[in-house]
Amino acid sequence: MDVQARLNPTDLFSAKGLVVVITGGGSGIGLAIASALYQTGAAHIYLLGRRLDILQDAIKTLESSPSAPNTSSTVLTAISADVTDQSTIDAAVEQITKEVGYVDVLINNAGIIGPANGQDLRKAESIDQLKDAFLKDYDKWHSTLAINTQSVIGVSGAFLPLLNAANTRRGWAPGKVTGDGNPRVQDASALSKAGLDADDDRMAQIITVASVASFMRVAFSGLAYSASKSAAMHLGKMLSTILAEWGIRSNVVCPGPFPSDMTSKVHPKFGTAQVPQGRMGGVGDVAGVLLFLVGKGGAYVNGSAQLMDGGRLGVFPTTY
Ligand SMILES: NC(=O)c1ccc[n+]([C@@H]2O[C@H](COP(=O)([O-])OP(=O)(O)OC[C@H]3O[C@@H](n4cnc5c(N)ncnc54)[C@H](OP(=O)(O)O)[C@@H]3O)[C@@H](O)[C@H]2O)c1
Repeated sequence: MDVQARLNPTDLFSAKGLVVVITGGGSGIGLAIASALYQTGAAHIYLLGRRLDILQDAIKTLESSPSAPNTSSTVLTAISADVTDQSTIDAAVEQITKEVGYVDVLINNAGIIGPANGQDLRKAESIDQLKDAFLKDYDKWHSTLAINTQSVIGVSGAFLPLLNAANTRRGWAPGKVTGDGNPRVQDASALSKAGLDADDDRMAQIITVASVASFMRVAFSGLAYSASKSAAMHLGKMLSTILAEWGIRSNVVCPGPFPSDMTSKVHPKFGTAQVPQGRMGGVGDVAGVLLFLVGKGGAYVNGSAQLMDGGRLGVFPTTY
């Protein structure tokens, strides 16, 4: 290692020049991710969600912010899409294919709470109350698993050609590269043609937003939420294995409590037995992890499940 090489934090932790898609990008954690990537110079950010007005409001908020970058080009685009409706995801892929032709980073962030039986489970004093808690809003399991889990595969699958195209643009040999002693080859001349630094060997990446609930053995929100997030986390790791020979990375981030529409009723302060840091996460906490993963500093990170939880998993029984 050349320990005298100049290290530039602005490169190591930055979205400069990246094309990014964020599902559920109109609110909460998705919007915080968009803000971090927008402020650090992403070339294009597509925000996907079901409610177009929420996405458009989010874009206005980011563009009118004093922290917005000085750019004359349009960076943020809203696309109405439902992660459980493959035809709308395919339409988003088609639009992005026409407009840009590649995606460097796909962020699977859309999610819902589903049947909120966590508190009922803990409060139950009779076996009948416990039974009712198990079965509360039982019919909502399908949509919870469809949005939080199944869509990780549906959306990632639909975007594979655009992720592959991002690699090709960066000079990486396309498609499947197999075998020992046979590393994927990168044509450095493609980097300069694309206006990228000669040392930029990032490969395309999928980031899945799971949760601390992926690991917790106590169901705080609900059983379906925990099961769906545990499975989403595992799929995110599996994708890194499945896509290894295809040159596409996959990482998972697992937030603790952050302010969002989903947690609007949660008190923002926590005791040391709940979140040792004592508070909900903020936009800086999101930015710290996400800019690391998408920046050059994260190029060697693949297959990880990154906690950002203020220490919450340290004080509960978990499978982490
Ligand atoms: N906030 C936390 O404390 C916390 C902790 C751990 C993990 N997370 C995870 O973080 C992610 C973001 O949640 P959040 O807390 O930021 O909540 P949020 O503000 O409610 O954001 C969820 C986003 O997902 C979108 N969405 C939901 N269903 C969708 C669908 N079928 N198709 C497309 N988009 C859909 C929503 O937009 P539309 O309704 O317009 O579609 C919304 O913008 C979720 O995966 C959540 O599980 C959150």
